[in-house]
Amino acid sequence: MQNIVIKGGARLTGEVRVSGSKNAALPILASSLLASGRSVYRNVPALGDVRTMHKLLGELGAEVETKTEPKAGGITFVDTSKVENVEAPYDLVKTMRASVVVLGPLTARHGRARVSLPGGCAIGARPIDQHLKGLAAMGAKIELEHGYVTARARRLQGATIVFDMVTVTGTENLMMAAALAKGHTTLENSAREPEVEELARVLNKMGARIQGAGTSQITIEGVDELQPIEHTIIPDRIEAGTLLVAAAITRGNVLVRDCLPEHLDAVVAKLRAAGVEITPEDGGLRARAKGDLKSTDISTQPFPGFPTDMQAQFMVLMTRAKGQSLLTETIFENRFMHVPELQRMGADIQVEGRTVAVRGPVRLTGAEVMATDLRASASLVLAGLIADGTTKIRRVYHLDRGYDRLDKKLRALGADVRRTRGPM
Ligand code: EPU
Repeated sequence: MQNIVIKGGARLTGEVRVSGSKNAALPILASSLLASGRSVYRNVPALGDVRTMHKLLGELGAEVETKTEPKAGGITFVDTSKVENVEAPYDLVKTMRASVVVLGPLTARHGRARVSLPGGCAIGARPIDQHLKGLAAMGAKIELEHGYVTARARRLQGATIVFDMVTVTGTENLMMAAALAKGHTTLENSAREPEVEELARVLNKMGARIQGAGTSQITIEGVDELQPIEHTIIPDRIEAGTLLVAAAITRGNVLVRDCLPEHLDAVVAKLRAAGVEITPEDGGLRARAKGDLKSTDISTQPFPGFPTDMQAQFMVLMTRAKGQSLLTETIFENRFMHVPELQRMGADIQVEGRTVAVRGPVRLTGAEVMATDLRASASLVLAGLIADGTTKIRRVYHLDRGYDRLDKKLRALGADVRRTRGPM
């Protein structure tokens, strides 16, 4: 088991390149199942969840190859010509809930899918009822048995579906299913995340007829067949945001390259409100922090609001800001697991239901802490960067599920970060 050991205090400077988006890569890799043949994806991030998706596609009968090129990042080749198996097993789905995005494509193209129910996860219950409701509205017969969901349909039929809440993978699953359905589908109250828009771009390249992705109403005219494609994946806005926060809290000066500023408006607005100087520059954003950081209040919202995936990282920033900041988590019911660990490092944080009050500025002190989920582990790395002394983070596999070598990138910016082997 690997740990990350950080000696706090270094000011980060220099340039860093953002990797491809995890949450775009996962549904895009799954979309390969909608066509027969070989697709090529570039700028695929090297991280645990992507490896799990490669494994899942392999399990279904696809041939998956990967290679790395210095400029193109990771490249994944997926050949789906021999896909016959339609079952996503418990072992893979329990490791990665996003495995559920194979449900739509398999049902649409093979007429049947059997996918393990993900169960709860560290950040909340996260049911998939909206995915199932949508498939049922499109004519699929849904059965839940032995911990698995089975969807069957000779050919899915277009339908009008209104989501009860905004769901990112739910929108993606149904958009993929509708792409090969017969007739017209309207998805109302759709997620507007850039990753949904990116998936629509990919599906349209494959021959789908999708309009409105990036707005809350998506319309899809089903087609009979889709083709394999080549595609370069958009940069990861959450990795970019995490690096901007790292620069800000260390009073650094960092150019975060290859990010798309239009995906980061809410994050940049809050960084600016906290007194961080953010300037667009040469294909990226530069973060500089000079004066004192100021307290700001944040409420997580679906895109274009402030992302839940940046909440834990901002909590660390708030420990450095003058005054009280209120952070409200509205998307997931249990996404404060980093709080007790940050408190152990000396943070002044009070939890009241879905809101935490962070008072600052305080000096954090290095401690031995435990990563509990992906973004929580990123927040502990950030805390380690500014803590007095040494911080040791256990269960780093959570970090590696969703970040492409974050420790290496931080080291290149001057952080004193290393990996060690040790107990869990
Ligand atoms: N929900 C339901 N029923 C459903 C679907 C969702 O009740 O059928 C609820 C969830 O329990 C949650 C809310 O709706 O409370 C929003 O969940 P959503 O479905 O949007 O989340 P997701 O699609 O499972 C994606 C990202 C998450 C990110 C969320 C919110 C991927 C692979 N994952 O999850 O990313 O936090 O959207 O933006 O795209 C991460 O990268 O760390 C991560 C957790």
